[in-house]
Amino acid sequence: MYKPIYWYHGNEKFPDTEVDQVIKELVRLGDELIKREDAISSYYLKLHSRPDKIWQPKYQKIVDEITTSIGIESTTKYTWDYWSQLYHQNNKHHAHHHSSGKNTISFVHFIKPTDENPFVFLDNDGNDQPLPEQREGDIVCFPSYIWHRVKPLKSGQRYVVAGNIEIHYQNKYHLDTSL
Ligand SMILES: [Fe+2]
Repeated sequence: MYKPIYWYHGNEKFPDTEVDQVIKELVRLGDELIKREDAISSYYLKLHSRPDKIWQPKYQKIVDEITTSIGIESTTKYTWDYWSQLYHQNNKHHAHHHSSGKNTISFVHFIKPTDENPFVFLDNDGNDQPLPEQREGDIVCFPSYIWHRVKPLKSGQRYVVAGNIEIHYQNKYHLDTSL
């Protein structure tokens, strides 16, 4: 029986003032999207225009901690990126994956979740495979090829940061060759 592959990396909360500032700026930039009942994403903005760019050093640290915890920090060459997703009532994200065909690890950081826990993984038949805990600050990692979606938000405001760590090269042998 299929159980989605994922793990909780940890929990990191950013200061409310920073979160409020980024959300406010996203709302300003995505005004038209709100009217169309679409979620606002910084994915399509140029890097220098992204309100979430203030967290680049923090995500550098988080990504390094993720790759270190997996045991690939010193044995791979990887690149990574991240972007924001802001949801309001009725906003959703259709079933998708983050795979580029390379070995990629995706992560979602639940910066401002809601009690609805709308993030779900999917099996081949389109059945939801819920992610049980989506607490404020939780960082969840999963292989990028795994299908997932965000169910329509019933109320409130939900804000997450998502990212990918793409492995371009991995050593054939472990750094400790005795293993
Ligand atoms: Fe996604």
